[in-house]
Order: sequence, then structure tokens, then C-alpha cells
Amino acid sequence: MSAPDWDRVDHYLASTLLEDDPVLEAALAASDEAGLPPIAVSPLQGRLLGLLVRAVGARRVLEVGTLGGYSAICLARGLAAGGHLVTLELEPRHAEVARANLERAGLADRVEVRVGPAAETLRAFAREGVEPFDLVFIDADKSGYPEYFELALGLVRVGAVIVADNVVRDGEVADATSSDEAVRGVRRFLERVGREPRVEATAVQTVGVKGYDGFAVVAVVA
Ligand code: SAH
Ligand code: DHB
Ligand code: MG
Repeated sequence: MSAPDWDRVDHYLASTLLEDDPVLEAALAASDEAGLPPIAVSPLQGRLLGLLVRAVGARRVLEVGTLGGYSAICLARGLAAGGHLVTLELEPRHAEVARANLERAGLADRVEVRVGPAAETLRAFAREGVEPFDLVFIDADKSGYPEYFELALGLVRVGAVIVADNVVRDGEVADATSSDEAVRGVRRFLERVGREPRVEATAVQTVGVKGYDGFAVVAVVA
């Protein structure tokens, strides 16, 4: 099996399991139009995020790395009534595209896009003592993952789930000698997670229209 097969299978699975989704398609089209990079999660991965929000029964969800709001739409759709998503984005231009996409998706009332360096916003949340989050999706700059994890741990309740995207990176994650800052960041993150007694974690490799990558899934158990 190689990349063309991954695409073919992803298209088969998506056409079989997902319904037509003009809202998500419009969000992608608007993101492309605005010149954002094509690095949102895939449709099938987005569905997984929404399912996790639903499975956890999450009322408060935190996303680190909004881009054009594709994954934010997927996460917000899984929220129970009264639920809320806060999504953090460095680039004002990305945030603007995301806000328009969330508005078009009818989710603007449930989602807040916060502009700024995510670590600063997370530290502000800790100072303000915001209500704990039930699910966190980490998907911003990969070198920041260790810090985002550390800060997220202080902002969640026991029983929360922390998901991190792009932890396999074409298999480069297994290369201890990599000089790629993204790979090094992801490795430091995984090693930090592995040493943390308060969590139980796994990582699952994925292939599909987004290539060869993977998710880490971390349960906060104490
Ligand atoms: N979650 C999105 C994709 C996010 S791409 C989706 O799947 O639809 C990563 C995003 O993180 C980019 O928009 C980038 O601008 C943002 N980012 C990079 N560094 C950041 C930082 N320090 N703080 C917050 N966001 C950051
Ligand atoms: C990149 C970032 C992502 O969040 C992603 O899903 C794929 C690629 C990147 O920075 O290259
Ligand atoms: Mg990603």
C-alpha cells in the first residue's frame, strides 16, 4: 500500500461514512481563497474529533491552532447543548477567516477565537482561573507542543482528554537525531507525556489524504 491507495481508501471511507458537507467544503474553499496553507485535518479525522467531544460529553473544549476553523467546526459540532469551544490562533488573518467560517457554519455563538501566542493565552487562562476544560486539541506550531501540554494539564479536569495532531510526521518522529524543530518538539512532547504520572496515553499512526502522520490521545486520570 502506498500514498495513492491511502487517498483511494480515504475517499471510499469518506463517501461511505460521511454525508455531503457543504459547510466544511465552504470553509476549505474560503481558507484556500484567503491563501491559508492546506493543513487542516481531513474530513474523516475531523469526524473523529467531533466524536471524541461527544464521547467525553465535553462542555468546554480548547483548541490550540485554529487556522481557518475547519477542525473547530468539527469539534464544535460534537458539543452538547450549552457547550463552548475556545480556539487559539497566532495569526489575525487566520482568525478572521476562521470567524467567517464559523459564522457560516452557524456555530459563532458557541466558539470563541482568541488571537495571540497560544502559550500566553493559556497562561492568562491559568491566572484567571477559568473553568476547567474537558477536551483539548493541540495542533499549532509543533515546537510549542511540550509547553502547550504542560499548560493544558493545568487547565483540565480529571477525566479530560488531550489530543495532539501530527505526532508521526512521515515517520520522522522515530528519528532521535532529527534536527527538524517540529520533530524535536513532538518528541519532547511525547517524552514528557510518557513521564507524566497523571495521564494514560497512546498514539495512533494514520494514513490518508493528509499523508502519513498520527494522533496522540492522552487521558488525564489523576
Ligand atoms: N487545527 C487546524 C489546523 C491548524 S494549523 C485544522 O485542522 O483545521 C496550525 C495553526 O497554528 C496555524 O494557523 C498557525 O498560524 C497557528 N499557530 C502557529 N503558532 C502559533 C502560536 N504560537 N500560537 C497560536 N497559534 C499558532
Ligand atoms: C503542518 C501543521 C499541521 O497542523 C498539520 O496538520 C500538517 C502540517 C505543518 O506545519 O506542516
Ligand atoms: Mg495538524
